[in-house]
Amino acid sequence: MLRIGVLVGAKGRGSNLMAILNAIADGTLNGQVAVVIGSLKGAPALEAATLACVATVVVGTANRTDDEYGEVLLRAIAKRDVDLVVLAGYMRRLPDALTTSYAGRIINIHPSLLPAFGGHGMYGRKVHEAVRDAGVSETGCTVHVVDNEYDHGAVVAQRCVAVHPEDSVDDIAARVLGAEHSLLVDVIRDICSGLRPLPLA
Ligand code: GRF
Repeated sequence: MLRIGVLVGAKGRGSNLMAILNAIADGTLNGQVAVVIGSLKGAPALEAATLACVATVVVGTANRTDDEYGEVLLRAIAKRDVDLVVLAGYMRRLPDALTTSYAGRIINIHPSLLPAFGGHGMYGRKVHEAVRDAGVSETGCTVHVVDNEYDHGAVVAQRCVAVHPEDSVDDIAARVLGAEHSLLVDVIRDICSGLRPLPLA
């Protein structure tokens, strides 16, 4: 069974992580979350993982150079024999040690239709504000392969949602988040079943 490592944000809410864990629990996803890694103890995503009896590790960035942080992160992942790394709310650029060692085995979920509304500084609410301000009629989410540039690697899959003129930023965010959960689980299911073989191109 494919072993998945999930990297969450410092204060990660963890809804994408929960979508993965729920799909595994109800038997629709044939994989195993081997470890959830965050950078701040007590983050909701880490608490949720603990409640679901999944191992958690905290790898902080304080007092570490980028290289040191990368080495510790890499060790934490390698130690658990992880096949696939999923970034779910992880905001930093991944250290080179990781993108090199796990090339084609790291995916990220981003809340827009990349390349639109992506790149450094485009995260969370800012993305949906930019979508509303641009007046587009459609947005969505993207699962992409992670390299060492923000929101840059090859697109694996996307899902669109409508944007209505009367939508608030919260309306857009909620609609996109629902699409994120189903898209991320669908992509991981395809990887687990071999339909999308690792490493991803
Ligand atoms: C999601 O919107 C994801 O696209 C982005 O960060 C957010 C994480 O949300 N990368 P959650 O912690 O999974 O609820």
